[in-house]
Amino acid sequence: MPFDTQEINKQRQNLADYEEIWLFGYGSLIYKVDFDFLESTTAHIHDYERRFWQGSHDHRGTPANPGRVLTLIQVPGARCFGRAFKVEHNVFEHLDHREKNGYLREEIDITLADGRVVRGLVYIATSDNAAYLGEATIQEISEHIWRSEGPSGKNRDYVFELAKALKQYAEHDEHVFAIESRLLKMI
Ligand code: SIN
Repeated sequence: MPFDTQEINKQRQNLADYEEIWLFGYGSLIYKVDFDFLESTTAHIHDYERRFWQGSHDHRGTPANPGRVLTLIQVPGARCFGRAFKVEHNVFEHLDHREKNGYLREEIDITLADGRVVRGLVYIATSDNAAYLGEATIQEISEHIWRSEGPSGKNRDYVFELAKALKQYAEHDEHVFAIESRLLKMI
């Protein structure tokens, strides 16, 4: 898979087939909403957990020194909290560009805060993408994030902003909070 997934994503779903499109965000899409939406609510998906296993060449790192950002891994029985946005089709032009560094759009069932279950899309970076970094210890991930920086800012701020947003929603995420806590000790 190439570093830039925009062209692949355009072929993955025919967005015109959707009467309404819901997007599920679990990482920076929770706290950095730089796109228009028609409706937004807290939400969750089943059988996935967040991990800082994806390399970032374009936001929180550079091609020479990639940062670490979130992707999802499959964990049967798990619940992943996030935000759902009902969006117009044309918003995916921007989203595909923003998520181009290895993420593919996947179809997924999203449970909205009011209990409705809608079929929507989520960006996931799987292990076969060119920017994938994979598993490492919490200490290794924290050290890597501590020293990384890219066009969107310091890698550590991705963690801090996400952790802050999760706390505002009273959501606990073991992986994210363990890394946040190591980073806070490094300051
Ligand atoms: C997401 O937030 O849903 C995708 C990963 C990211 O952009 O941080």
